[in-house]
Amino acid sequence: MASKTDLCSWPEPGVSVQSLSDSGAVAVPGKYVKPLSDRPVLIGGGGGGRGLRIPVVDLRGGRAAAAQAVSEACREWGFFQVVNHGVPAELVEAVRRAWRGFFRLPLEAKNGYANSPRTYEGFGSRLGVEKDAPLDWGDYYFLNLKPASPGEYWPALPDELRAVTEEYGAEVQRLCELLLGALSAGLGLEESFLREAFGGAEGVGTCMRVNLYPKCPQPELTLGLSPHSDPGGVTVLLADDHVDGLQVRRHGEWVPVRPIAGAFIVNIADQIQVISNAMYKSVEHRVIVNEKEERLSVAFFYNPGGDVSIGPAKEVISEKHVALYPTNTFNEYRKYVREKGPRGKSQVESLKF
Ligand code: OGA
Ligand code: NI
Repeated sequence: MASKTDLCSWPEPGVSVQSLSDSGAVAVPGKYVKPLSDRPVLIGGGGGGRGLRIPVVDLRGGRAAAAQAVSEACREWGFFQVVNHGVPAELVEAVRRAWRGFFRLPLEAKNGYANSPRTYEGFGSRLGVEKDAPLDWGDYYFLNLKPASPGEYWPALPDELRAVTEEYGAEVQRLCELLLGALSAGLGLEESFLREAFGGAEGVGTCMRVNLYPKCPQPELTLGLSPHSDPGGVTVLLADDHVDGLQVRRHGEWVPVRPIAGAFIVNIADQIQVISNAMYKSVEHRVIVNEKEERLSVAFFYNPGGDVSIGPAKEVISEKHVALYPTNTFNEYRKYVREKGPRGKSQVESLKF
């Protein structure tokens, strides 16, 4: 039966934004034009924030210092940059090179991996299946890393893409586990607490979305990625090395993120908000585009296993701090975003008792 919850196909054929951008159109097609209230204000190089900056966490100082810095950044902001994270710079560059190479392939080659809303794996442009929702100005490639997407979903070109992506995934997973340890300690719990709650070493899930935001003739009318919080656990973003675009919502204002060379951008996602009973909060973010340069980002998501039940940890609830959220499996939880696409923090907020 075809219904709103039918996640088998897109409501209309997908159009690659890169092909629109390459066609040299001087106007953004109506489908990408956001309502006035959702449009970005681009004066002054990308938003307000009055010079605010997300915190920077240096992991060189040892475990205890890291735990302290991470948990403070997460209570204050839910977003931070991490430096001296231990992921080799050459590997990071190899990942960027491989994925830029993929997006430069002819459209027919990329369309060979066209995705569906059932699993999102492959090449796509749309998030959510609601027919008349305005679209975002970006293309992406989505892959599961753990458990890994079947071979047919992995681009055959560039040759080295799969090997470097897998190696990168293993490195960034290690970084996430360190961060989860810090977040657990910050709640006064065992370092292994959050990882175990996510399903343990064998049970956690990881996946990746490589985002390509092409040049846009009218960046003031649209967004590369609409406001959303990430549904999973922790996100590690490798931002473009020279083009900005990410903005974080802070007390109602959009704060631009200016990545430090070699840093990753980290943010807390909804499942950590749920488990910590909102001691840590997931944070809304969005991406703006520009007329001059395309932008590539690699978002790595560290998530609970799909069948793992996630609710407020009994260790953090008490008579004074009653449970704010019901328990759901992550697969149940992420159906919402797969259906509706990016919608601010509406899902985690609507979950509240
Ligand atoms: C995401 C995301 C930000 C970016 O993929 O969930 O928020 O800068 N990406 O591309
Ligand atoms: Ni995100």
